[in-house]
Amino acid sequence: MSTVVVTGTQWGDEGKGKIVDYLAQQADIVVRHQGGSNAGHTVVVDGQDYKLRLMPSGILYKGSLCIVGNGVAFDPKIMLEEMDGLAKRGIDLSGIRISNRAHVVLPYHCLMDGLGDEARGKNKVGTTHRGIGPCYVDRDNRIGIRVCDFIDKEEFAKRLKENLEIKNRELKLLYDHEPLDYDQMLEEYNGYADRLRPYVCDTIALLNDEIDKGKKVLFEGAQATMLDIDYGTYPYVTASHPVAGGPTVGAGVAPKKIDKVVGIVKAYCTRVGEGPFPTEQLNAIGDKIREEGHEYGVVTGRPRRTGWLDACVVRYAGLLSGIDYMAVTRLDILDSFDEIKMCVGYKYKGELLNEIPASLKILADVEPVYETFEGWKTDITKVRKYEDLPEKAKKYLERMAEVTNIKLGIVSVGPNRDETIVLAKDIF
Ligand code: IMP
Repeated sequence: MSTVVVTGTQWGDEGKGKIVDYLAQQADIVVRHQGGSNAGHTVVVDGQDYKLRLMPSGILYKGSLCIVGNGVAFDPKIMLEEMDGLAKRGIDLSGIRISNRAHVVLPYHCLMDGLGDEARGKNKVGTTHRGIGPCYVDRDNRIGIRVCDFIDKEEFAKRLKENLEIKNRELKLLYDHEPLDYDQMLEEYNGYADRLRPYVCDTIALLNDEIDKGKKVLFEGAQATMLDIDYGTYPYVTASHPVAGGPTVGAGVAPKKIDKVVGIVKAYCTRVGEGPFPTEQLNAIGDKIREEGHEYGVVTGRPRRTGWLDACVVRYAGLLSGIDYMAVTRLDILDSFDEIKMCVGYKYKGELLNEIPASLKILADVEPVYETFEGWKTDITKVRKYEDLPEKAKKYLERMAEVTNIKLGIVSVGPNRDETIVLAKDIF
């Protein structure tokens, strides 16, 4: 048995796609277990960019099974757009399996996501408008439409009618919005169901069988710890569980079947959307990080907020997810900095805090305690062995491991597959 969970330790966009892609080389199966098309994973293969949203990154490997688990907010339209785009580039789609228990994202979810967030005015979350929150709300309210019902023409027609009646009333009353057309939506989505039906199965049975046979499974987390609905900076979070416990409920795999957890740590910090971000740099340093790192959203194109690495957040992620190894990404983005800072603690009203405050009022008011490191001012993109990294870069990484109490497993020094230093050979 060999199962590995990859989880983001910050606010997302840590470069999970690349690490998942690297680990997918060794995996037989890659599984998405939470979130949906709000994710944006960029994987670079042979100099070509692949931007994946719903699709498990394993799709770029011939022969691997790619499972969309029951915990995913599944948007059939986006899935088909992605499948068509990949097919055009010669990617084999036969390994895709979609859970019959996943909840379907429908046009009213996306519409209400946007209208609802805008209606919050200055309190808006800054969601991606991909319908993720509203889809999970329907699931929890027990009116969601699952994939097994979506591909059953009669059941879908009935449930869509019931739901659209409710949604159209809400749209009118809350937003004075015109109603959405049932017949048009039914026809469009029946077309999607016809195309997707061959890929749908009971992924829980399939996955557990494969694990029991000794197959290597990679669980690909989307978003990240600080966006987790329970553990993140609530309410400025997503509506799912990106922490490493996610696959147990989002893919139907028991906790004792999870072998290892890899936490992705970007060498600096970014976030999109609203909410506190203690190490944010609203200055020339932040601009430099954004430009060097091309920190603009894959899904929305929004410029990301940028700042120094917050090791407190990474330590918290380690605790929540039991991270065995960290994969540090985008270290090369810091190549040209004269000095680099790392937040190693928070002070609130002059006192050092021992934990991440739940109260956003407190978190917005903490004073980061920084350690300053000299920049290495060297191009590290050609380095392939840890010992060949500049001493100053090693010092930064080793302090990161010390403060977070997580072992260094992988260091990424560029976007391509080969621009990777692997210290931990036993991840799978
Ligand atoms: P939602 O997931 O669209 O509901 O958005 C909720 C919050 O999570 C917003 O602040 C989004 O910007 C953020 N978010 C969602 N997905 C991602 C992601 O893949 N990377 C970074 N932030 C994300």
